[in-house]
Amino acid sequence: MSTQTRARDARAIAHHYDVSNDFYSLFLDPLMVYTCAYYRDPAGGLEQAQADKLDLVCRKLRLAPDETLLDIGCGWGGLAIWAVQHYGVRAFGVTLSRAQADYAAARIASLGLAGRCRVEYCDLRDIPAGTRYDKIAAVGVIEHVGIPNYPAFFHRIHAMLHPGGLYLNHGITHNFYWRPTSQTEFLLRYVFPNGDLAGLTETLTEMERARFEILDVECLRLHYARTCRQWVERLRAHADEARRLVGERVYRTWLLYLTSSAVAFEASSIGLYQVLLQKHGDRAGGDAPRTREGLYGQPAG
Ligand SMILES: C[S@@+](CC[C@H](N)C(=O)[O-])C[C@H]1O[C@@H](n2cnc3c(N)ncnc32)[C@H](O)[C@@H]1O
Repeated sequence: MSTQTRARDARAIAHHYDVSNDFYSLFLDPLMVYTCAYYRDPAGGLEQAQADKLDLVCRKLRLAPDETLLDIGCGWGGLAIWAVQHYGVRAFGVTLSRAQADYAAARIASLGLAGRCRVEYCDLRDIPAGTRYDKIAAVGVIEHVGIPNYPAFFHRIHAMLHPGGLYLNHGITHNFYWRPTSQTEFLLRYVFPNGDLAGLTETLTEMERARFEILDVECLRLHYARTCRQWVERLRAHADEARRLVGERVYRTWLLYLTSSAVAFEASSIGLYQVLLQKHGDRAGGDAPRTREGLYGQPAG
């Protein structure tokens, strides 16, 4: 990957995520999770649904005390912190947004978790080679990777896992008949300058080519539609403050992007899938969930 491409990716991420932590806090939940929530109650609220999503990811990964978790594209640190607090793992998160990394580091310190939880500003391609993890998550990251980079991305993750380790990929996909539209042009120009979506089957094929076994695939499309609707409601409820923080143009751009995303999920032109993968190896089968039953009990409090 050329230096020029890395610099362009860093600029693209800063364009979107460094807008202002205060702005994002106007419409995200208190844990600052910026991906699809999981509504155990279809009419439920955002706060509970985001906590339930973090817990669902931890359960799918079968996190256990003292395991190591790498959270690639960790945002404001929500999953890493949740996994340390509720599952006793040691977590390392990376983000390409300085605003997110600073926010997460301050939150980790204020919670007294610095010995077990760390978030750094780091390009995922620069995560030190040689370190292996028990579990890896990438939640809402594949959208930024670029389809031509999928082979390198999945091979890298595979190499960073211990044999038998689990990887959870949570991301947006295009439906099979997708074609570029004025909406995608708007999103690429004003919202996600490096955004790139693939179809589910294309993505699964690259995962298999990287020698992963696919253990579980779950569609959460309508959960993302509701998440976007709730983000829009919350942003509109704080319109004056949002305008003060980021100006009229960014406020309206984000309102349009979130609303059009809700419509696209409702119309199923885009989807959201969680895919659980396992690296073959000595421990194969040891960690792999054999049923989904463990996922549906009472979530961690
Ligand atoms: C949609 S956010 C999701 C954040 C978090 N996982 C969550 O669920 O709230 C995408 C994240 O991917 C990160 N990201 C995108 N490209 C990256 C790269 N090349 N290296 C590291 N992080 C990257 C962004 O900085 C951001 O934190």
